[in-house]
Amino acid sequence: MTENIHIENSNWRLRKGQIIAARQMTATEKWFDIKLEDGDLDHEPGQFVQVELYGVGEAPISVCSSPTKRGSFELTVRAAGRLTKHMHSLGKGDWLGIRGPFGKPFPVKLMTGNDLLFVAGGLGIAPLRSLINYVMDNRREFGKVDILLGCKTPTDMLFGDEIKAWQKRLDVNFSCTVDRTAPDWKGNVGLITSLIPGVTINPEKTFGVVVGPPIMYKFVIAELLKKNLPERQIILSLERHMKCGMGKCGHCQIDHPKNYYCCKDGPTFTYEEVKESKKL
Ligand SMILES: Cc1cc2nc3c(=O)[nH]c(=O)nc-3n(C[C@H](O)[C@H](O)[C@H](O)COP(=O)(O)OP(=O)(O)OC[C@H]3O[C@@H](n4cnc5c(N)ncnc54)[C@H](O)[C@@H]3O)c2cc1C
Ligand code: FES
Repeated sequence: MTENIHIENSNWRLRKGQIIAARQMTATEKWFDIKLEDGDLDHEPGQFVQVELYGVGEAPISVCSSPTKRGSFELTVRAAGRLTKHMHSLGKGDWLGIRGPFGKPFPVKLMTGNDLLFVAGGLGIAPLRSLINYVMDNRREFGKVDILLGCKTPTDMLFGDEIKAWQKRLDVNFSCTVDRTAPDWKGNVGLITSLIPGVTINPEKTFGVVVGPPIMYKFVIAELLKKNLPERQIILSLERHMKCGMGKCGHCQIDHPKNYYCCKDGPTFTYEEVKESKKL
């Protein structure tokens, strides 16, 4: 108990992080590699940090690098509002405040030894990438791996170079689709749900991990259920507007009889846990 209190408190400590690399990925997303002044972040796949910019505010951002990468950690930030737009003006050498890591990570231990089906829509690839790269670095510990990725247009695709490397791997099945095509696009066109019927799933030993925009969940989950994937083996990462980030203010409450708070009970949940939510 004492140890838990210590861990929680130490995570709330504001730590200084320096941007050691940054790259504009698309018109709206920027990638940052951040080194903490006092050591590693020590996160688990699926966790997030609170980024603090002095005089601007704080926002939760998922860690998009795997914990197997040591020395620094990565964030992908969409310019959505005050803090994230300000972050886009930062670059190599700039400093920011970091609290965390926070939140319930993906259940990696439970997934070990099983097949994995990753379904990422848009910016959902950011939190999922922390898990995908963890699995790539520990590939022998997992069974078959399928990655399905959907984006609005080919120019919205994040981590293009890494995706090319996943496509080349013989131990990974990768499929991608775009909502709207472009002249040089030779891949699939259509919603991400159109890729699911083509995947072979052994429901007894597969975990489906789904991260994307809110509209995506309902339809992807319906396709996974059609494949007889048990509800407890469908893992989601949910996003809600947060204020305190520590289970006190109620801002991130999920409309569910159990009144889950996204910040402390999530952001990862099984479908079984949250299926009664009307917003799924
Ligand atoms: C667990 C978690 C992980 C996340 N990971 C990422 C990530 O990896 N990358 C990323 O780019 N973003 C991520 N987000 C989203 C990010 O935290 C939000 O976009 C955040 O609001 C940005 O802060 P801001 O100050 O830039 O925007 P804000 O100024 O807060 O505004 C952002 C948008 O949200 C609207 N808004 C603000 N407050 C509310 C409210 N209470 N109710 C309804 N709408 C509101 C605003 O009108 C605006 O359109 C994550 C969120 C959560 C909860
Ligand atoms: S953000 Fe305050 S309870 Fe979750």
